[in-house]
Amino acid sequence: MTHRTQVAIVGAGPAGLILGQLLHNAGIDSVIVERHTRDHVVERVRAGVLEQGTVDLMHEMGVGDRLAREGLRHDGIYIAFGGERHRIDLAGLTAGRAITVYGQNEVVRDLIAARERSGRPLVFEATGASVHDIDSTHPTVRYRLAGDEHEIASDFIAGCDGSHGICRLAMPSPVVHPYEREYPFAWLGILARAAPSCPELVYSLHEHGFALFSMRSTGVTRLYLQCEPDEDLQRWPDDRIWGELTTRLRTNDGWQPAVGEITQKSITPMRSVVVDPMQWGRLLLAGDAAHIVPPTGAKGLNLAAADVWRLAGAIGEFYGTGSEVGLRTYTERGLRRTWRAQRFSWWMTSTLHRSASANPFDHKRQLAELDYLVHSQAAMTSLAENYAGVPFA
Ligand code: APR
Ligand code: PHB
Repeated sequence: MTHRTQVAIVGAGPAGLILGQLLHNAGIDSVIVERHTRDHVVERVRAGVLEQGTVDLMHEMGVGDRLAREGLRHDGIYIAFGGERHRIDLAGLTAGRAITVYGQNEVVRDLIAARERSGRPLVFEATGASVHDIDSTHPTVRYRLAGDEHEIASDFIAGCDGSHGICRLAMPSPVVHPYEREYPFAWLGILARAAPSCPELVYSLHEHGFALFSMRSTGVTRLYLQCEPDEDLQRWPDDRIWGELTTRLRTNDGWQPAVGEITQKSITPMRSVVVDPMQWGRLLLAGDAAHIVPPTGAKGLNLAAADVWRLAGAIGEFYGTGSEVGLRTYTERGLRRTWRAQRFSWWMTSTLHRSASANPFDHKRQLAELDYLVHSQAAMTSLAENYAGVPFA
């Protein structure tokens, strides 16, 4: 069966769903195809820190009601080392830009509900997706659903299919340049039924390595600790996790994370990837399909939102005025923000983690970097403006 639409979107993660909503609001039709089930997409545990720009976008799209009620606005974060916690006043240093803690799965839940209200198609369990004729003005996406073959005839294909998607692989290999970096550690993350014992996030560097105190709601704490890249979760019974988290996060003022039942455990690998260019013909990549950042700056979801905001603008301009300027400059503008986020995420990662290959000099230098950071208005401002996020452009 052949469907006809303006934009075929592969992937119903935050990138694909936000794009679908922005296009809908501009009166542009799309079909979203997703290989997993709706439950899988909604229940996936991911990060939960929204930049001001992402929060503003959710409101502009008309999907910000629950976010306004349930999201936790944080005006600052803490950096901990040497037994002390130091607050970085994000809002004070950036003329009011703050972050909002709201799980990515809640963002996805709200966007799926909006998609359903819009009446535009969102196809779950679409398997074997492939893209064709991306060099032409009529590219197509083919997929299978319950054993039947389907084809979407479109004007544009948006590759929003994440880091293991198929769209990036459809770009001709000689023109695509992936820049990559592996980090020699990973994060072991847990969700715990425990009221957060600090109202803001705490990023900590301890002799044993990095730890992060975060949260999802007033009753759920989210915590991470640096571990080996090939770490075996079996080696981490709950007692060991809490022991290590407490050791790495506890500060001399007596603060430590509140302990509670662990409801989820997982390992997050740490990688940086940038795909250059982000577009080929009528195929445009957005979100994790185009770039991956290590989680230390919480930039993944926010970069995806900035990409599709730009992409929706470019497609809207094309249908509205016939101009292709936005489409032609999509890669250039996208890569600029991406590299800025890569630089920041790399800096936060390397400043806050202990590497097995580091010697005592490196560790002392890291502590000096942190000491400078928390005592210099200039250094704190630099962290704050990157962490809270510069306006989408
Ligand atoms: N066909 C259809 N859907 C696919 C295919 C395929 N061949 N390959 C992947 N997908 C779907 C995935 O199942 C997933 O739901 O594409 C979606 C991609 O979503 P995400 O991985 O969430 O990526 P993205 O939307 O770019 O979101 C950006 O921010 O916090 C970070 O990495 C985190 O999810 C993240 C992201
Ligand atoms: C999270 O809450 O999951 C989280 C917070 C901050 C990060 C990464 C993840 O840098």
